[in-house]
Amino acid sequence: MVKLQAEKLRNFINGEWQDVARTTAVLNPATGEEIVQVPLSSGEQVDKAVFAAKNAQKEWALVPAPQRAEVLYRVGYLMKERKERLSQLLTSENGKVIEEARGEVQEGIDMAFYMAGEGRRLFGQTTPAELKDKFAMSQRVPVGVIGIITPWNFPIAIATWKSFPAIVSGNAVVWKPATETPIMAFELAKIFEEAGLPKGVLNVVFGSGNEVGNALVNHDKVQVISFTGSNDVGREIAAACGRQLKKVSLEMGGKNAVIVMDDADIDLAVEGILWSAFGTSGQRCTACSRVIIHEQVKATLETRLLAKMEELTIGNGLDETIKVGPIINGRGLAKIEEYIQIGKKEGAKLLAGGHALTEGAKQNGNYFAPTLFTDVSSTMRIAQEEIFGPVVSLIPVKSFEEAIEVNNSVSFGLSSSIFTNDVNRVFRAQRDLDTGIVYVNAGTTGAEIHLPFGGTKGTGNGHRDSGVQALDVFTEWKAIYVDYSGKLQRAQIDID
Ligand code: UN1
Repeated sequence: MVKLQAEKLRNFINGEWQDVARTTAVLNPATGEEIVQVPLSSGEQVDKAVFAAKNAQKEWALVPAPQRAEVLYRVGYLMKERKERLSQLLTSENGKVIEEARGEVQEGIDMAFYMAGEGRRLFGQTTPAELKDKFAMSQRVPVGVIGIITPWNFPIAIATWKSFPAIVSGNAVVWKPATETPIMAFELAKIFEEAGLPKGVLNVVFGSGNEVGNALVNHDKVQVISFTGSNDVGREIAAACGRQLKKVSLEMGGKNAVIVMDDADIDLAVEGILWSAFGTSGQRCTACSRVIIHEQVKATLETRLLAKMEELTIGNGLDETIKVGPIINGRGLAKIEEYIQIGKKEGAKLLAGGHALTEGAKQNGNYFAPTLFTDVSSTMRIAQEEIFGPVVSLIPVKSFEEAIEVNNSVSFGLSSSIFTNDVNRVFRAQRDLDTGIVYVNAGTTGAEIHLPFGGTKGTGNGHRDSGVQALDVFTEWKAIYVDYSGKLQRAQIDID
């Protein structure tokens, strides 16, 4: 295991690295050891960052988009060069196993090149005007200063989904990363600096949601907030933004299901469930936390899934042989434990796991055994609420129709999956599953960056991260009419 030392963390405001007096420790979730201190900034630092962003944005918006994109290309190459360093630091601060950390960094690299390409597109429309000698078009224009608030579970990928489209389309950004995982933000800011981003276009302010997050959300010079995190916080942010008529993009929880039909390839389904339920220790918005299982194949799936779960190696993700890493912190662990008690009280049958792991080298980390409940009914809390841990509930059903109904019975709508070899079921499922992302014969995780990422119902508020759709969050539409008739022409009136 290689151990990299994180550098001292400072805010990045107006192209300068600034110390903050108040700090708190960042702990490695695998070992409990302190990795680095993270600054706890105040509203004053947010104000400085917003001011810097506002000044820088005017110039930045005038840089031709293909040139703005050049910075992103350089960011992409630097991320590629540093992929291993970034991945190891990511595993240290977040806990996810190194293979997944490399995957996450790759997601950021992909996003850099994809969004850099947008510098030569950013398409609007040209369209005929209704009057003679008149020209009409629509253009995307930047909004101004964007506030970005990112979570600890994908500390670099989600940051790239938001900051890259914001920057390529001519905005300036103030970014508050999660205090649990500040190293990725620091490293990405350094990369932007080296890539030649003009000062003030990206600013990073470390600190708590209460201080930094609040100040950012309520700042009158911040025009857009893009947030990924919990529903409780998202709802508060939306309310605050609503009062200010501020645009807000929210990406929040999930209660994602894998449906396994009676005609499915069961071994393939088991692989899909294992990967999407226990990868990242279940701490993905897209994680599979329900398996909706046709009663005819329930017993077979249970046996094979349990056997595969026993093979999962749990430990420090820097060790290449480990498949499941730790939970982010004690709070995360306590929430999972609480849901185990709830599940038991509700009458679900615990088939595996259900407890923290504390033996040997695990004693100072936050480990939880991969857990399987069965005979869960879809109305139980463990089948409805987001747990954010390696806990799966098997819900037996009698038919395809019931499976769809159970999938759609939750208040979230991020991702869903169906394992079946029946083409009619495939097409019906992709039509009827009410989530923003649908997989066929694959688990619920693994979204690619050039497609829209986000969900329906309580998962979000109609916006999407990544994909070309992310540009809708960070741009306004401007409609432009050029009349070259040399006389007054009145739309809707002088039509003949
Ligand atoms: C998240 O959990 O918030 O589709 C992001 C996936 C990853 C991203 C997950 N590409 O699972």
